Amino acid sequence: MDKRELVRSALKAREMAYTPYSHFKVGAALLGKNGVVYQGCNIENAAYTPTNCAERTAFFKAVSEGQYEFSAIAIVGGAEDAKELSVCAPCGVCRQVMIEFCNPDTFEIILGTSTEDYQVYTLKELLPLGFGPANLRK
Ligand code: THU
Repeated sequence: MDKRELVRSALKAREMAYTPYSHFKVGAALLGKNGVVYQGCNIENAAYTPTNCAERTAFFKAVSEGQYEFSAIAIVGGAEDAKELSVCAPCGVCRQVMIEFCNPDTFEIILGTSTEDYQVYTLKELLPLGFGPANLRK
């Protein structure tokens, strides 16, 4: 699975975003080390705080199906009426979920605006000095 394909999958996942309040649609495609891609979209709620980001939807789908190891995630987002997408970086809560399951030095976060245009960061770059499971080990 190359990065372009993962961005394509995130763009597809974005089509399912449930966003009656913000009208801001996000899609994510999470690549498990088992080779399976878990897609996620943001899912909003009338009470606002139960809203789930696309990235966490993808992680929780994967973990709920027994997959705990991941190599990369592609993320795309933008207003529903946007003609072109701009880079959509993951929120702090989603970065914290990532560090629970991913190696900060190697997990790749691919921020795409199209299959031809994306930037790649490691989790460590987007969450420096993050607190994760390693901090609780002796
Ligand atoms: N959102 C995501 O799904 N992922 C991000 O990386 C940023 C924000 C969602 C949450 C909410 O439904 C909408 O975008 C506006 O914040």
